[in-house]
Amino acid sequence: MSWLFGMNKNQEPPQFPTPPPEGGEGGQGGGGGGGGDGRTGGAQKPPPPSKMEAYRFDSSALERAAQAAKDLEKSQNATEILAVTKQQEQTRQLEQQSRIKEYEAHIEQAKVEQVRAQGEERRKLMAEETKQHQQRAQYQDQLSRKRSEDQLIQQHRMNEENLRKQEESVAKQEALRKSTLEYEMDLRHKSDMKKIEAEMTARAKMERENQDLTLEQIRVRAAEKRDTVLNSIKTAGAVLGEGATVFLSDWDKVAAAAGGLSLLALGVYTARGGVSVAARYVENRLGKPSLVRETSRFSLFDALRHPWSSLRSRLQKTETDALAGVVLEPALEARLRDIAITTKNTKRNKGMYRNLLMHGPPGTGKTLFAKKLAKASGMDFAILTGGDVAPMGRDGVTAIHKVFDWATTSRKGLIMFVDEADAFLRKRSSEHISEDLRASLNAFLYRTGDQSDRLMLVLASNTPEQFDWAINDRLDEMVEFALPGLAERERLARLYFQKFVLVPATQGAKRLKVDKFDYGAASQRIALSTAGLSGREIAKLGVAWQAAAYASEDGVLTEAMVMARVEDAVKQNRKKMEWLSEEERREGKSGASLQEAADAPQIQPKDW
Ligand SMILES: Nc1ncnc2c1ncn2[C@@H]1O[C@H](COP(=O)(O)OP(=O)(O)OP(=O)(O)O)[C@@H](O)[C@H]1O
Ligand SMILES: [Mg+2]
Repeated sequence: MSWLFGMNKNQEPPQFPTPPPEGGEGGQGGGGGGGGDGRTGGAQKPPPPSKMEAYRFDSSALERAAQAAKDLEKSQNATEILAVTKQQEQTRQLEQQSRIKEYEAHIEQAKVEQVRAQGEERRKLMAEETKQHQQRAQYQDQLSRKRSEDQLIQQHRMNEENLRKQEESVAKQEALRKSTLEYEMDLRHKSDMKKIEAEMTARAKMERENQDLTLEQIRVRAAEKRDTVLNSIKTAGAVLGEGATVFLSDWDKVAAAAGGLSLLALGVYTARGGVSVAARYVENRLGKPSLVRETSRFSLFDALRHPWSSLRSRLQKTETDALAGVVLEPALEARLRDIAITTKNTKRNKGMYRNLLMHGPPGTGKTLFAKKLAKASGMDFAILTGGDVAPMGRDGVTAIHKVFDWATTSRKGLIMFVDEADAFLRKRSSEHISEDLRASLNAFLYRTGDQSDRLMLVLASNTPEQFDWAINDRLDEMVEFALPGLAERERLARLYFQKFVLVPATQGAKRLKVDKFDYGAASQRIALSTAGLSGREIAKLGVAWQAAAYASEDGVLTEAMVMARVEDAVKQNRKKMEWLSEEERREGKSGASLQEAADAPQIQPKDW
């Protein structure tokens, strides 16, 4: 609306639609044109504005405004025009605001630029400071290096000086010793010369006296010798000449002799070759490689050393259940049974064997199961211990190749069980592994690169995380043996009570009797209090019960004695747990039962 009041004079006023003329054509004078007319209402153009006019009140504008207002009033679209005008005004205000915002954005941008510039400046400053620091450090370093070099040179000079002095003193001593020696030698020489002179004079005198006698002796000895030599030559010549004449005159004999000699040479050569081939064959087929601790295969040397025991083990019925006598958690037992059946069927169908890793805390039945698996599968088995490889040093590689050569000659297929495998198959990148062990491991990897229909690899380890990655890659099945749970401990207690107490008591061990007590209830109590104990520790409990009975006066094992041994075993186990390093504890090497062990009820003497 500012145009109404003469502001923004340069701006054109809006063009309003012209209202229709009132009363027909004649309306020209009064209500002629809208805005156009309003402006031309004052027909004369306003004079060009001077400088002073800018400050003068513009009355013509007011008139024009009044005229325009009047025209507006007359206009039928006055309200619309007003609305349009309002809208235009709002639009302009909005434009104005957006421009303000733009300015504000510019200002913000400028501030950001300024901050960035300051940051850049600071960074440059810091870089400059760092550079200066570095230069200073380098300079100081150079200085200290120079200083130490100077010190070294000084030291070197002093050492040289000392050396020179030492050499001089040694030379002096040497010269003294030499002159002493020379004097001594001179003296000795003179005395020797005198001695020889005296001897020569004496001998000459004696020889002169015995000359005739000596000459006669020499003459006789020479004549005797000449005769003997002449006779020997004559005899030998006659014999050889005769023999050679006979031999050469008989052509058959010459041919036979030549043939005989050739045959003899051939015989010696063939015998030597044959013996070495046979020895290699015998060694491969029958000789147990030194790395193999135990095997089901026939070993000539073992058979010679222990003929009865090896014959008995050959005649023994082979076990068919790989899990007989192994107490495990039911799910694990089912899985292992599957593995045992798969292995048996693989052997029958000549398929490819799957390599197996058994891991878990010590004494949980890994070795026990592996041996039974080998026996039950009807395959040969060989037990190796990882710890045996390292001490072999450079011979390790040959020993490994020997084991695999020997293994491939098995007709039944062979389960190679490597116990404590982490001792040997640990990471090649580890610093704790010697060059020789690394070479042995490489030989092992080379021989186990492909799936085999003759060899099944079974590894057992407490710390499989130490295995080389290439070993992990060769494993097809991994089975974890955990510490026995409550139910398993009860079964183990029963099993080993049966094995070490009841069976000997009933089968003729005269000094072992069992007192009357409810062993079922006792087993439950034992299971409750032995949380954290391994299968091995519970097996040892069985032996301890037996020993307690033998040690008692009447040889009777009472419930109190049983529980006392249990208490001992539990105490020992707690002690071992305390010894476990913090790290091992964190890694859970002692199994999940640590907490269980802590929560286990203490045995009270009144419990039995
Ligand atoms: N699950 C089990 N069932 C029956 N007996 C067991 C079990 N675990 C251990 N034992 C007993 O403990 C003895 C040792 O077990 P084994 O040698 O199998 O342990 P391991 O797991 O190989 O231990 P390590 O890691 O120390 O070699 C066995 O001979 C057996 O008497
Ligand atoms: Mg073992």
